[in-house]
Amino acid sequence: MAAEGTRSEKFLLLPKSETDFDRVRLAIAVSAAIIDGRATAADLRRQVARFVEKFKAERGFEPGLAVVLVGDDPASSIYVRSKAKRTREIGMVSYERRLPFATEQSQLLAHVRELNAHEGVHGILVQLPLPPHIDSGAVINSIDPSKDVDGFHISNAGLLATGQKGMVPCTPLGCKMLLRRQLGDLSGAEAVVLGRSNIVGKPMANLLLAENCTVTLAHSRTRDLKTVCRRADILVVAVGRPKFVKGDWIKFGATVVDVGINRISAPEPGKEKSKIVGDVDFDDAVQAAGAITPVPGGVGPMTIACLLSNTLTAAFRKEGLAEPQVLL
Ligand SMILES: NC(=O)c1ccc[n+]([C@@H]2O[C@H](COP(=O)([O-])OP(=O)(O)OC[C@H]3O[C@@H](n4cnc5c(N)ncnc54)[C@H](OP(=O)(O)O)[C@@H]3O)[C@@H](O)[C@H]2O)c1
Repeated sequence: MAAEGTRSEKFLLLPKSETDFDRVRLAIAVSAAIIDGRATAADLRRQVARFVEKFKAERGFEPGLAVVLVGDDPASSIYVRSKAKRTREIGMVSYERRLPFATEQSQLLAHVRELNAHEGVHGILVQLPLPPHIDSGAVINSIDPSKDVDGFHISNAGLLATGQKGMVPCTPLGCKMLLRRQLGDLSGAEAVVLGRSNIVGKPMANLLLAENCTVTLAHSRTRDLKTVCRRADILVVAVGRPKFVKGDWIKFGATVVDVGINRISAPEPGKEKSKIVGDVDFDDAVQAAGAITPVPGGVGPMTIACLLSNTLTAAFRKEGLAEPQVLL
């Protein structure tokens, strides 16, 4: 069921022309509904934890997630630590492999082979980015696709692109869940995905297509980006540029999902020297959008929750159990 302030209501408000748009914006003090990714992620984790209990009751052991970190990049270290913490919190087993920066590709591939064969490991994630001397593609494609809980393996990308069941990348999966929860049925919506990376933009476009949206995938060579974005009932932004999308790029009442995570300097007295902002200019966009994800607290928390959900799915599939209909 869709959340309050949903598409159908917002659609009633949609202006028919540019003139109407401006008139409506002037006449009404509009403020978008804020899509709470933290609450939704907590909900998802609770549901996954219940299925972990069920799995344990039926099989006598817990699903396991292995995370491999090469090097000591501070941001990656924090991500890995928080993934391990969340994994344990919901009752799964966390396996952590921390390898030195100088690890050779052949050594890393040997670790992946070992985890592929490990009976207790249902999901494997190799934290990116890898050091430059390692070919990330070769490593990702060496993961057993059924354990590839990041969904980056070429087989899983192909399955998603052809509308078949595989492993779906966590960030776009989280975005889809937020959209479904906010809007209900997405069928027929005009969706624009801004950014065409393999880990966010392309899988996001495929997921929205599978939801029967009419999808445009925009990028740095797209002509008249603002006009393209203004067509969207659903606008998903993943460009990696702070506050790139402005309020007047957004159709009145549209639902905006901001994937961006950008650290910018914020030299305010007495406050932190930097802060995290999204790819959308939130204060501006909130005036036009019907609903919007904040940064932080929107898409980010959903990514780890979806990683746990993918691990659960992998474990149920491996054990031949009926797949859990998680969720939301
Ligand atoms: N919340 C999360 O859990 C999560 C997960 C992953 C990523 N992120 C964040 O999401 C953002 C995007 O990540 P990514 O890995 O997808 O980035 P990416 O690989 O750098 O891709 C960026 C995309 O944006 C497009 N782009 C860049 N500048 C543009 C411009 N001026 N106009 C139009 N398009 C432009 C690029 O177009 P071209 O292809 O034409 O170059 C590219 O397709 C980053 O801020 C990242 O930190 C968040």
